[in-house]
Amino acid sequence: MQSVDKSTQSVDESVKKLLSGEGKNIPLFKVFIPESVMEPLRKVLLSGYIGEGPRVEEFERQLGPWFDNDNVLALNNGTAALQLALRLANVGYGDEVISTAMTCSATNEPILAMGAGIVWADIDPWTGNIDYKDVAGKITPKTKAIMCVHWAGYPCDLDELNAIAAEHGIKLIEDACHAFSSTYHGKPIGSHSDFACFSFQAIKEMTTVDGGALVCKSRADCERGRLLRWYGIDRKSKRKDLRCEADIVEYGYKFHMNDVTAVIGLEQLKYVGKTIEKYRANAARYNEAFKDLKAVRPLRYKDDRTSVYWLYTIRVKNRQKFMEHMKKAGVTVSQVHARNDAHTMFKDFRADLPGVDEFTSEQVSIPAGWWLTDKDLTHIINTAVEYDRRYRPRVQEIRKSSGKYEKTPARRAN
Ligand SMILES: Cc1ncc(COP(=O)(O)O)c(C=O)c1O
Repeated sequence: MQSVDKSTQSVDESVKKLLSGEGKNIPLFKVFIPESVMEPLRKVLLSGYIGEGPRVEEFERQLGPWFDNDNVLALNNGTAALQLALRLANVGYGDEVISTAMTCSATNEPILAMGAGIVWADIDPWTGNIDYKDVAGKITPKTKAIMCVHWAGYPCDLDELNAIAAEHGIKLIEDACHAFSSTYHGKPIGSHSDFACFSFQAIKEMTTVDGGALVCKSRADCERGRLLRWYGIDRKSKRKDLRCEADIVEYGYKFHMNDVTAVIGLEQLKYVGKTIEKYRANAARYNEAFKDLKAVRPLRYKDDRTSVYWLYTIRVKNRQKFMEHMKKAGVTVSQVHARNDAHTMFKDFRADLPGVDEFTSEQVSIPAGWWLTDKDLTHIINTAVEYDRRYRPRVQEIRKSSGKYEKTPARRAN
C-alpha cells in the first residue's frame, strides 16, 4: 500500500492536509494504490489502445456481482453518473427534483445542469440521510425524481423512498458515491432502485484515480445510457469510416470510462474487499468505545442495513473545540461536506430544514480507513473519550435540549 507522493505541489492545501495529516498527524483520507497495478497499467498504456475498450467491458462485468446487478455503465466520474441518471429519468427544464442539502455539491449541481429546480427535503439528524416523510409531503405535479444520498455509506430508507417513487410514477436516484458495497436488507446498494451512482474518485475505498459507475434497474435504461455516455453513438455498430456514418438520434455526453482507468479498477477489485473489512472493523471499535459518551455521539444506525463507513461521522458538542482538541493530539478531522442549500447557486430553493440545522451544527468525521494501526485507533479513541470527559454536558443541560432541533437560518457550515 502506497501513501501519497510528498512532493506533490499543486494539490489544494486543505485536501493535502486531510490526505497527509501534514506529515505527522493521522490523516482523514489516504489514497490506496496497490503496487501490483504497475504491470497491467504499463501494458495498457503501451498497447496502442487506451480509449474505451475491452478493459472497460471487463471492469463492468466484474463490477456486476458487487451490485448484484449486471446493468452497469462505467463512467469517467460519479458526477457524470448522477447527470446521466437524471437524463435517463427524463429530468429537464422546469421539472423539480427532491434532494438533500447534506451532501457534496456534486449531488445537486447536475440537477441545475439539467435545467431543473431543487426542492430540499429535510434529513434525519441522527443519520444525515433524507427523511422520506418529508419527501412524501413535497411531491408536486412537477416532481420528476427523488435524489437520496447514503451519507458516510449508511443506506437511506430505500423501501419507503421506492414506494413513494412508485406511487407517483417518478424515479429514485441513489447517490451512492459514499456507499460502494454497503447493503440494505441483505442486498448490496445498486440492486434496489431505478438508478444508483458510484464514485471511484481518488480517496474513495475503491478508486480508479477518477471514475464512476451508473447502475440501472432496467436493461432499457442501461442501453440508452450506453449510447448517451458517448455522444449518443453506438460504438459497436458496424461502420466503415470511424463514426462518420452513424445517425445520432439524441444528444449525449463524453462520460465514458477508458481502458487505462478500467485497468486500475480491475486491479483495485482484488483488494477492495479487504480494504472495506478494515473500515468496518475500525468503525465497530468506535461504536463500542463511544456508545455511552454524552459529548461525542455516534450516529444512530439500524441493523437491517450495513454501512461501508467511508466516513465515520459523529455528533459532538461544541464542534470547534472538538476539532481543535483532536488536531492538538495529531488527529485530522473534518466536516467533509457543508450544507448545499446555503450556496448562492441554490438561493432560489431555500427552505426550512431543522434536521439539517441540527446535524450540520454538530457533525464531524474522524479517520476510519485501512491505514489506521491499532495504536492509531487506541489514540483516537482515548483522545475522543478525554474530550467527552472534559465537555460532557451536565444532566440538566441534556434534559433541556433533548428532542429539540436548534433553529438557525441556513448558512454555510464554515
Ligand atoms: C456524495 C457524493 N456525490 C457525488 C460525488 C462526485 O463524485 P466524483 O468526484 O467521482 O465526480 C462525490 C465525490 O466525492 C460525493 O461524495
